[in-house]
Formats: sequence, C-alpha cells, structure tokens
Amino acid sequence: MISDDFIQELKYRNDIESVVSSYVALKRSGRTHSGVCPFHSEKTPSFHVYPETQSFYCFGCGAGGDVVTFIRKIENLDYLEALRLLAQRAGMAMPEDVRDDPTARLKTRILELNRCLARHYHQNLTAPGGEAGLAYLRGRGLSDKTIRRFGLGYAKNEWDDGTRFLRAQGFGEDEILAAAVASRGKKGGLYDQMRHRVIFPIIDLRGNVIGFGGRALDDHGPKYLNSSDTPVFKKSRNLFAMNFAKGSKEKGLVLAEGYMDVISIHQAGIDNAIATLGTSLTAEQSRLIAQYTDEVKICYDSDGAGQKATRRAIELFDQTGIKIKVVGIPDAKDPDEYIKRFGAQRFRLLLEGSSNSTEFEMARIKSNYDLETDEGKAGYLKELAGFLAGIRSPVERDVYISRAARETGVSKDRVDAQVAYSIAQKRRTSQKKEANALRPFAEESLGAEKSPEARKIELERRQNLRAAVAEDRLLTYLFKNPDGFEWIADKITPEQFVTGQNRRIAQAFYERLGGGLGLDMTALSAALAVEDMAHLSRLVNGAAGLNITRQEAEDCANALLQAGERQVDGEMSPEEIARRIQAKARRK
Ligand code: UTP
Ligand code: MN
Repeated sequence: MISDDFIQELKYRNDIESVVSSYVALKRSGRTHSGVCPFHSEKTPSFHVYPETQSFYCFGCGAGGDVVTFIRKIENLDYLEALRLLAQRAGMAMPEDVRDDPTARLKTRILELNRCLARHYHQNLTAPGGEAGLAYLRGRGLSDKTIRRFGLGYAKNEWDDGTRFLRAQGFGEDEILAAAVASRGKKGGLYDQMRHRVIFPIIDLRGNVIGFGGRALDDHGPKYLNSSDTPVFKKSRNLFAMNFAKGSKEKGLVLAEGYMDVISIHQAGIDNAIATLGTSLTAEQSRLIAQYTDEVKICYDSDGAGQKATRRAIELFDQTGIKIKVVGIPDAKDPDEYIKRFGAQRFRLLLEGSSNSTEFEMARIKSNYDLETDEGKAGYLKELAGFLAGIRSPVERDVYISRAARETGVSKDRVDAQVAYSIAQKRRTSQKKEANALRPFAEESLGAEKSPEARKIELERRQNLRAAVAEDRLLTYLFKNPDGFEWIADKITPEQFVTGQNRRIAQAFYERLGGGLGLDMTALSAALAVEDMAHLSRLVNGAAGLNITRQEAEDCANALLQAGERQVDGEMSPEEIARRIQAKARRK
C-alpha cells in the first residue's frame, strides 16, 4: 500500500495542467483549459482540464479522472507504473516496497522469454525441420543480411516446439501463457501459438522483443497472425520497424501496410519505413509517429481497402498537424511487389513524387463523377466544396478552388460561393454538436468506441436512470461538502447505492471520510478503476453539480432508499440479495 502522504506529495509536484500540457496543447478558457482530446478523434476541442479539482474530463468520449488516471490512459500503464512515472518526473523516490512489484517482475520475465523465443525461431531457419522457413524467405527475395537484421525466423510445423524450448530454458507455464506465445488445449497441455509460420519479431524503441507477427506457409488459419496484447505489448501503440526508422537519415517516415512491404523497402536502402501490426492505424500510433517526424508518407496497398485506409490515416494525421504525403503505387499491388518489379530506384522516385493529401482526396472524389456531364460537374463541386471547407489555410484553399474551377470550367466565383456555403454549414453543425456535448448529465450515447465494461456500466445506468441521477447528485454533494458525511452515512450505506459504479465510488468516499481522510481526486484514484474515475470527474466538474443544497441531497438519498425498496418487490439476483442483507447488517 502506498501512503497517503506520498500520494499527496506526488500530486502537489505534478500539477495536472503542466502534466497534461506535455501531451495536449491546452488553451485557457475562464477557469478551465481545453484542448483536442488525446483519447479519441475529434477536430473541435472537448477535452477539459480543471485546475481546481486537479482533474480532466472529455465531453466527447467520457474519458476523465485525475493526473494518475491521465498518465495511466495515455501511457498505457497500470496504477503503480503511473505513480512511478510521475514520481520520476517530479524527482521523487518511490517507496521501497513498491519497486519490485509482481507486475514489473512479470514484464521483465516476458521480455526475457520473448527474446529467447525470437532467437530460437531465428535458429530454426538453419536447423533440421526449418528448411521450409528459410526457403520461403529467400523465395521472397530477402538476403541473408536482411533476414539477420530483422531477426526473422521460423516456427516449426509442430504443436509445441516453442513451448518445449521455453520450458527447457526455465520458463514456467504461467509465464508462457502470460506472454501469449502458447494457449492451453482441451486436454490441458500447452500448444504453440505460431506453427509453420515465418516469424517477424516486433521490437520496441528500447530494443525489447515485445511480440511476434507470423505469416502462414500453408492455408491453416489467417495469412498473418499477430501476438495478442500482453502486459508488454499493445498492438495499437506500437509500430513495426520503428526501432530502425527512428534513427534514419531519410526525410520523414514511410508508413506501409505490411511487414513484407517494410522489409522490402528497407532492403531497397530506404530505412525509414514502418507499419502497423495487423490493425488499421490508431490515433495513438498517429501521435507516436508525429513525435518522431514532421512528415509522413502514406504508402498503402493500391487496392480499395488500401485507399480506404489511406483516407482514414489522413484524417488521423490531420489532427497531429504533421505534413502528409500520399504515395500511389502504379502497376503493382503493394510496395513489395513494386520494388520487385521496377527496382529500388524507381520506388525512390515514387516516394519523391508523392502527392499531398489534398490532391489525393480531390482525385478520389473526382473519380466518382463523370465531369463530361453537367450533373457530374455539379455533384463533384458539391462534394469537393464540403471537403475544401475543411482546409484551414485560406491560401491553400484558394489554390484548390482555382484548380477545381479549371477542371470543371465553372467560374471561380461560383466555386468560391459553394465552398463558403459549406464552411457556414459546417460551423452550424459543429456548434450544435458542441452544445449537445456540454449538456451535463445528458444520457445520450457518447460518440467514441466503448469497452465492454463501459457498455455494461451504461446499460445499468439506463435501466436505473432515476436512481443513477440521484446517486450522481448525492455523490457530488458529498464531494463538495465532506462535512455532510455524518448525516449522509447515517441515512444511507454504500451498499444501498443501486448502480455498481456509483456504489464503488460511494465505498471509496465512505472509506476515506470514515477514516478521517479528505476527498481528492488523486487520493481516490488509488481505490477506483479508470472508468469510475472518469465518471467521478464528470460529476465533480459538471455544471449541474454546482449548487446542490442539503435539502436536495436529502431528497436524493430518500429517492435512493425508495428505489431500493421498490426493487425488493421485483426479481432480485442472488448477488443483489446478498448485497441487501449485508447492507441491513451494517446498519444495525
Ligand atoms: P497484406 O495481405 O497486404 O500483407 O496485409 P502482405 O505483406 O502484402 O502479404 P504477403 O506476405 O506479401 O502476401 C497487410 C498487413 O495486414 C496484416 C498484416 O500486418 C499484414 O502485414 N494482416 C493481413 C493480418 O494481420 N492478418 C491477415 O490475415 C492479413
Ligand atoms: Mn500487401
């Protein structure tokens, strides 16, 4: 357990505004600061930092919490790791007992395991039973030097070659499973995740092997299989070959779709190519790329899927502010094939001649219309105007408006007017959206993707909406008036809170207040999960929580007690019954 003193000190030395502003550009507006949310895709800022409560909340995606929650989310760390990072940042020493916590130990073991296994896969290429792997890689035109540089390997066509090897190296079943390199079969034994595949080790910026990609050599299973997420590996945060590309002397970074593309490009002497790991580009990855370069060249497959992915990537990169180029691949399906067919020199020319993202999008829109006809022209200009309205620089916008006028033979003034109309329309919708987002306690679905856990919480709220709102208000009142704890605790126990999330928050409140401790976000984040912190942040910073009177708080408590009694009549789950019995016992 970390002492409260340590946490308080940590909080004072890590002011939320200064911590957040090293990740997000914040703008002051009144007593809060706002910026573009780092946790979901958006163009208008709905992410707010509240210095007074030392917390943050995003009205767009519902992310929220204190400074520790922020670090956990943005750096993908668990609670102790986040504390460690903040302590380091503030030049504080972590308390001793925490330094060798089990999570950190497991992570180290997984990294050791991965490194051993990568070496084993690599050695398989030249071992008996590994011929197929080496033949495949050579057949794809890879030199021995390239194979060595990327540490490529082969997983044999056996059930447990890797697992047996790891056991012999002293790794236990738990560790093997935690590293996700094997699964438990129906009969209880372990079988290797990768079998009869060539292996692409995934290496992070510190040189650790954090996961594997494997390409099938026959048609069992998917063509590419990627390690699932583990304590040391999160697909959405890492990039293939970033360890090489980050030190490249080439200009910018080249983002390709596949492992083989990246390796081919590197073999062609261009060492700034990277790829995502079996998923489409994420916002996190786009920000990571923007940290390392100010220009990205998107070089995806030439098929429809690749073009669609290109558009999505442009949207994400647009938010990071880096320069975007799009590399078209003529007469080949992907960079790998292009290089094989036309050579490294031609590929380099392709990279140099890449068009910018606006040209890419204009060409894409144009391909949907027949500009020989009047309807075609009108449709094209209308869609194009919508797109050009999103370009922030008026000078740049003007260049493309002129070009569109030329292409269609329509006067520039008319195109101008069309774009101006689209801009006005966009502004209206975004204002409306913002107004909606800021409506406190609104129960509308939030835009961003939700975890199953978040969905469960939301469903429970919807089913108990009146109780949930009463709880919200009561908790907000208590946070702002901790001196009301006595009468509130007298009236209602945490177990009598109806929704699980508010019950957990109430428990954390009661625990601290009952122990004579105060309520503050940072102290509470030790006891609450990330989702619960987000909800709490919404409560304590929301406008609706401003002036709750004691009378209103009492009404809320009464409403909750009634809601509880009503529920007794209905059907109750065994957990619900247990909870109520416990609550009754407590009150006696
Ligand atoms: P591609 O199928 O375009 O890969 O998928 P490629 O590199 O051209 O494949 P080959 O080896 O030359 O035939 C692009 C990327 O999408 C992911 C992988 O990361 C792959 O590199 N992918 C593809 C998967 O994760 N699973 C799949 O089944 C297929
Ligand atoms: Mn491909």
